[in-house]
Amino acid sequence: MVHKTIISFFKENYNSNPLLFKAPGRINLIGEHTDYNEGLVLPASIEKGIYFAVSGNNDDTIRIEAFLTQAEKIEFALNGTHKKFNSFWGNYFKAIIEILISENYPIKGMNCVFGGDIPIGSGLSSSAALCCGFIYALTKISGKEISREDIALIAQKAEHKIGLNCGLMDQYAVLFGKKGNAFFLDCKDLSHSYIPINLNGYSWVLVNSNIKHNLAVDSEYNKRRISCENIVKEVKLLKPEVNSLRDVTLKDLQSVAENSDAIDIKRAKYVIEENERVHQMMKALTEGDAQAVGRILKEGHWAMSTQYEITTPELDALVKIGEDLNGILGSRMMGGGFGGCTINLIETTKLDSSISSLLEAYKKETNIEAEYYHLAIDDGVKVFS
Ligand code: GLA
Repeated sequence: MVHKTIISFFKENYNSNPLLFKAPGRINLIGEHTDYNEGLVLPASIEKGIYFAVSGNNDDTIRIEAFLTQAEKIEFALNGTHKKFNSFWGNYFKAIIEILISENYPIKGMNCVFGGDIPIGSGLSSSAALCCGFIYALTKISGKEISREDIALIAQKAEHKIGLNCGLMDQYAVLFGKKGNAFFLDCKDLSHSYIPINLNGYSWVLVNSNIKHNLAVDSEYNKRRISCENIVKEVKLLKPEVNSLRDVTLKDLQSVAENSDAIDIKRAKYVIEENERVHQMMKALTEGDAQAVGRILKEGHWAMSTQYEITTPELDALVKIGEDLNGILGSRMMGGGFGGCTINLIETTKLDSSISSLLEAYKKETNIEAEYYHLAIDDGVKVFS
């Protein structure tokens, strides 16, 4: 177990008993690239996560150490200064510490060892887990706890600083997730509710295409956001009350089509229809209609592939192969895009045979070994005991 290794490493190196926090990764059932358009999303926090073993210190230093992936130890003085570091993860902590300082959050010295089992760059939000878990731990150790809503906003600012103009889905899923439930979030007013996702006789499996993305250094994500904003600007000329694609209808798109870029129109149409798929998914889950759930997953995927253009040939291959296999009801790529995992709904009695056929056919077509993980929905950020 990763967390046990982290605790023993901490004890050996820092001579004290740490507090342990866990921040989960997240999946998303449907609602992709809708969050920054004030739209609807349906993610869930998962068992895979990042663990932080921490204790306060009296030397005005935040000492952070990863020893599993990109092993490095980075020290930040409480004024934010630090020595040069190499690991990409260091940028997230740097950004967070700078934001906390500039917003006058009282932070104290802390020793922190972290590590986990979320595959990086696979669409499971390892960076939101990293940021939210760290902010939670640091503010707790500093004796100044802050609300989960505020943690989400700080974590989002950190992502923006590093270069990804993301919405709030990942941070909210990581912070507010609940075991056994999907998390419905309306990104317009940030109201949320829970919906159990057990479909009797069916299992959820994640398949990692093993094409890794780094959205923060890949501007395609941000370009999508700009397309959406372009359309909002056009519609606003006709309807000044419109502030986001959430307020835009398909009819509005027709009205501005002539003055807009055709690609922007295509992107906006995708977002409007994706919000509708979230409603459909909620209904299908409530009614326990597994066939409908599978159909919506597939529709969502091909919309991302052909309209929003954020999938890869490998992800398309995974979904396509699944469509031809008996037992897989549906699947789709999750997250920002350009790599990562698909989420699959599979008949439990055909689970093993479906997965092995899927992986085999994928290998044959792409020459890549995919991996799979059984999905377990777990709680959001918490003290782990
Ligand atoms: C990334 C971003 C989220 C969201 C998804 C796509 O995970 O961090 O804010 O936009 O992509 O749904």
